[in-house]
Amino acid sequence: MHRITLINGDGIGPEISDSVVKIIDKAGLKIDWDIQSAGADVIEKEGTPLPERVLDSVKKNKVALKAPVTTPIGKGFRSVNVQLRKSLDLYANLRPCKNLPGVETRFKDVDIVVVRENTEDLYAGVEEQIDENTAHSIKIITREASERICRFAFDYAQKNNRKEVCVVTKANIMKLSDGLFLDSYRNVAKDYPNINKREILVDNLCMQLVQDPTRFDVLVLPNLYGDIVSDLTAGLIGGLGVAQGANIGKECAVFEPVHGSAPDIKGQNKANPTALLLSAIEMLKYIDENQIAQKIEKALFATLSQGFKTADIGGNLSTTEFTDKIISNL
Ligand code: NAI
Repeated sequence: MHRITLINGDGIGPEISDSVVKIIDKAGLKIDWDIQSAGADVIEKEGTPLPERVLDSVKKNKVALKAPVTTPIGKGFRSVNVQLRKSLDLYANLRPCKNLPGVETRFKDVDIVVVRENTEDLYAGVEEQIDENTAHSIKIITREASERICRFAFDYAQKNNRKEVCVVTKANIMKLSDGLFLDSYRNVAKDYPNINKREILVDNLCMQLVQDPTRFDVLVLPNLYGDIVSDLTAGLIGGLGVAQGANIGKECAVFEPVHGSAPDIKGQNKANPTALLLSAIEMLKYIDENQIAQKIEKALFATLSQGFKTADIGGNLSTTEFTDKIISNL
């Protein structure tokens, strides 16, 4: 039996985790879930939002499914998500964005994969207060991390029969830091003669994505642009409720949706579990449970095609009603 870490998060985290765990169980796969709490709720008892036991569990099990965890804005503890990605060296954030059956969107045939560098850039958290009215935030870009993520993007493209890898920067302005990312891309690109290369500035990319997203295939970006652009691409396929993600490192992988803990709908049985379920389907493929993954994907797509949806994508079902529909379609 697979033993997998489950970080069930806070906000809507526990509701969508319950849904996904139930669907996998009903699909016929028994998983020994190693449930690990993290975030604001554990600080009082354990003194930190990300106790060592959580990291140890992921290191031991090698695979985790993670629901969102709240990060206080402006003050308070550092993001659990950022810490987790850094501590486990989960350097690649993979966010595929593809239209789903039954989910109405402005564009058809969106099929974009966002590959986001996950360990540095402005997320390194190097900030200083110079005086009351001045603060600095340092953007860190290294050749090692940049080449590693570009190689990941090209390898992914090759393995998944994608045609192009486009690098996204603002190297016209940040000539040194983004310039280094771009140079790393060009170096790595030489090893992949069969894949189209393309370079674009992030502002132009955003404009083109909302005009015609079918112009793009695989995108590789430094951390912050990747964060922002992947929310944009999530919007193209129906919003955060359906956008999946994965954080992948050499040793382990953590699968999690793009969205956050949605405090505005917490505890209301309204959350869409699709993004976490799609992330879990990718996790099942990662552990070679392809048959079960396909079975669940088919049931999810059938449910959406039959018009059964949660409110965020135009339906009227609660989290639990939507979950039950998927289960009946298994
Ligand atoms: P959010 O993604 O939680 O919510 C944005 C909007 O999308 C809200 O209106 C929310 O109701 C809706 N939404 C999100 N997921 C949904 C779902 N599954 N079903 C239906 N509607 C959904 O972003 P926000 O409000 O900026 O962040 C809330 C908290 O989450 C913050 O503390 C943030 O730091 C944290 N966060 C955590 C992440 C993680 O754990 N990986 C990722 C992003 C944010």
